[in-house]
Amino acid sequence: MWKYILVSIILTLCITSNALPTIKQNNELIEDEGGKIIKYTEELLKLWVEWEEWKHEHSKVYQDNKENEHRYQIWLQNKNKINTHNSDKTKSHKLGMNTFGDLTHEEFKSMYLSKSHYKLQRNGIKFLPPLGLSDLADAVNWTSEGYVTPVKSQGQCGSCWAFSTTGALEGQHFRSTGELISMSEQNLLDCSSKYGNQGCSGGLMDYAFEYIKDNGGIDSEDSYPYEGVENECRYRKEESVATLSSYVDIPSGDEYTLQLAIASQGPVSLAIDASQSSFQFYRSGVYVDKNCSNKELDHGVLGVGYGVEGDLDYWLVKNSWGTIWGDQGYIKMLRNGDNQCGVATVASYPLV
Ligand SMILES: *[C@@H]1O[C@H](CO)[C@@H](O)[C@H](O)[C@H]1NC(C)=O
Ligand SMILES: *[C@@H]1O[C@H](CO)[C@@H](O)[C@H](O)[C@H]1NC(C)=O
Repeated sequence: MWKYILVSIILTLCITSNALPTIKQNNELIEDEGGKIIKYTEELLKLWVEWEEWKHEHSKVYQDNKENEHRYQIWLQNKNKINTHNSDKTKSHKLGMNTFGDLTHEEFKSMYLSKSHYKLQRNGIKFLPPLGLSDLADAVNWTSEGYVTPVKSQGQCGSCWAFSTTGALEGQHFRSTGELISMSEQNLLDCSSKYGNQGCSGGLMDYAFEYIKDNGGIDSEDSYPYEGVENECRYRKEESVATLSSYVDIPSGDEYTLQLAIASQGPVSLAIDASQSSFQFYRSGVYVDKNCSNKELDHGVLGVGYGVEGDLDYWLVKNSWGTIWGDQGYIKMLRNGDNQCGVATVASYPLV
């Protein structure tokens, strides 16, 4: 029975793909493009089934057979890369197959990361540690304290900066009112270009904070839902749920002050270098990649806490690629590792 199911899956696969081998006569023989008969292996069979299941799980539909074959090859390469990484016991983080499995690294970067690097623009207030803050907690997790909305998804738009902005304001709003309200990224995407933001091509959290401050508010997610493309500004004052009076910049590269800020204030907006291919498939553990830059930053995220795992310190970071990416949408980034991936390079948060 099981064998029959496998064979019918492969037959379906063959109908939709000329380039993948076809089954001939019985389930032990397959024919490649040139008509040569080769024996299939259990391994190959399992791979094809896995490919079909993966496509189904992630609702992947391709234009034609050529595209299907092309994507299959990329998926295979990614799968191998993930396996190779995971079999290396010296790595502190694991990779895993996810919805980005049929994208080359270049495609992935152009679809999900900012086109331009984050500028070291600092117009915010300088962070002053609160008086009497001497004993820092060993670990902080604002998600478990109710400061953080569920993980959102930016789609194929470089709007990470808008998600990082709402995340930080959602946290500060909760801190001052006790109410957790999801805020509108689309509002920021559509209305803050005058402040230097570039919609789906990228932006800065500080520019978005400036906009909210001048605008005197930001609409709720419910009233101004996410569309994932830049449209005309449709802000409505009556739907505004929060505002901010100013924002604070953490001294660039100073991980200790960032820790003080997160421990004493709540979630903080961070910009990072997410351009390493290991980032595309991060699954769990403390993310360490020596190739990460601490200057060329292309992704806005939210620092929601920190902790220690094994002998590594980490920042707990909320991403905006849905819960299908990473560890339920989160990543643990190396902390106190020479500002790896630029976590502390342009960190900031709003004052409400
Ligand atoms: C943080 O808190 C959330 C919610 O309680 C929990 O799901 C998550 O595992 C925690 N993460 C860490 C690293 O403690
Ligand atoms: C780091 O970059 C070098 C040179 O591009 C490359 O050979 C190496 O594999 C990279 N290391 C990782 C962990 O990706």
